[in-house]
Amino acid sequence: MSKFPKGFYWGGATAANQCEGAWNVGGRGPALTDVTTGGTVNTPRYTTYIDKDGNPGKVASMGITAKLPEGAKYAVLPDTLYPNHDGIDFYHHYKEDIAMFAEMGFNMFRMSISWSRIFPKGNETEPNREGLEFYRNVFLELKKYNIEPLVTISHYDDPLYLVEELGGWNNRKTIDYYLNYCKTIFNEYKGLVKYWLTFNEINCLVAFLTFGGDKVPDAAYQEAYQKLHHQFVASAKAVKLAHEISPEYKVGNMICYLTSYPLTCDPKDVIKNMEHEQFAVDYCGDVQVRGAYPAYAKRLWDAHNVKIQMEEGDLETLAEGKVDFYTFSYYMTSCVTTHADAEKTAGNLSMGGKNPYLKASDWGWQIDPDGLRFTLNRLYNRYQIPLMVVENGLGAYDTVEPDGSIHDSYRIDYFRQHIAALAEAVADGVDVRAYTPWGCIDLVSAGTGEMRKRYGFIYVNKQDDGSGDDSRSRKDSFFWYQKVIKSNGEDL
Ligand code: BG6
Repeated sequence: MSKFPKGFYWGGATAANQCEGAWNVGGRGPALTDVTTGGTVNTPRYTTYIDKDGNPGKVASMGITAKLPEGAKYAVLPDTLYPNHDGIDFYHHYKEDIAMFAEMGFNMFRMSISWSRIFPKGNETEPNREGLEFYRNVFLELKKYNIEPLVTISHYDDPLYLVEELGGWNNRKTIDYYLNYCKTIFNEYKGLVKYWLTFNEINCLVAFLTFGGDKVPDAAYQEAYQKLHHQFVASAKAVKLAHEISPEYKVGNMICYLTSYPLTCDPKDVIKNMEHEQFAVDYCGDVQVRGAYPAYAKRLWDAHNVKIQMEEGDLETLAEGKVDFYTFSYYMTSCVTTHADAEKTAGNLSMGGKNPYLKASDWGWQIDPDGLRFTLNRLYNRYQIPLMVVENGLGAYDTVEPDGSIHDSYRIDYFRQHIAALAEAVADGVDVRAYTPWGCIDLVSAGTGEMRKRYGFIYVNKQDDGSGDDSRSRKDSFFWYQKVIKSNGEDL
């Protein structure tokens, strides 16, 4: 008998801004990612602008320095490559891509809707029909192969107008704009979608703050916690709305799971790690699953003089909008320490201490399959609601052989070990329902904007300089994953 329950969801995950391309096609409005350049493992991505005197400029796209100068406006500059503009052109290749997912045996596909394809500025009252039709066609195509969509409503691509002119999530009105967007898609896709996620990696709003190692002023904490409060309220209202619109709808959260260990058995390291967990992951998970701010929240706020402005009824809203299931991304782990001489490691926003027992990817992300079992147990013990691993994978350089084949044994090794860890968690009694590895088809990296940081089972001929014909081909891992799915996780 398989270790995985019958009906376990096997699939893959993507996000609109990283794969769709067609950034200004079909009535879509620009998103923040459309004014973001490509970077590398060593150089940051930049956001570009025109300053108040008409001069072009750029600022780092992440971290606390990611603010435009006074009077500047986001702008697409000439002779500058914006990798998200074209992505991998999923917009025009979705039929071919979904057919390949079906060939691998997917029964779930995680994707996101681009808000600015439905509401180009973010705050219109009437949606862009052409955008709605595009996703309807994608969902119909998935249905053809019995692939269940898992849809992220907001995945790192807020409409640019909303961010620039309306203050984005600093502005409480954004809750209403988001809910109008939710209402539109919940009504539109009844019968085509069952599973929704409100915000991708919602915790990154605070976890981002410590990225880059700069000293973070209290004002930055104030802004991040306030924006998060607005997103918590929006998420809770979206859960309630979804349940009202269709009894079939199940709504989850999505957390960037920055698993960390104390670097040493020094109790000071253990306490520091506990505080890190509270700040980086549990704060958001607790609010979204339990429907209330946790006891330690006040201490987190007080440490940076944060005063959250709440309106009457907000706490009731949170209590009424608990998520139905918990989802998370998991790539790596890091260590937390009070010992100043510890070495740092890179990673998806964590930049924690280096673990001497682990190897790292070419981008410095420490590979830790046991950490996945640990994380699943930690989460299930904490919440006792269904879990889904909605991102996992290895960003790596791939080589195309002269005959077109791609021998990505390193990726197969990574997945073999992580799926074995997942099976252990199932044996531990954890109620995990789905596994959708990240970038099941190569796409633009969120962190670096690169194409050559490839995660896919499917290779896409698109290069960092924008060249390539977008043709798709099967890597060795494609056939391996196909076999894994066919055996419901038995044949690794
Ligand atoms: C997650 C994001 O943090 O990590 C994805 O939800 C992202 O959007 C993924 O692509 C992998 O990160 P990167 O930087 O390698 O693309």
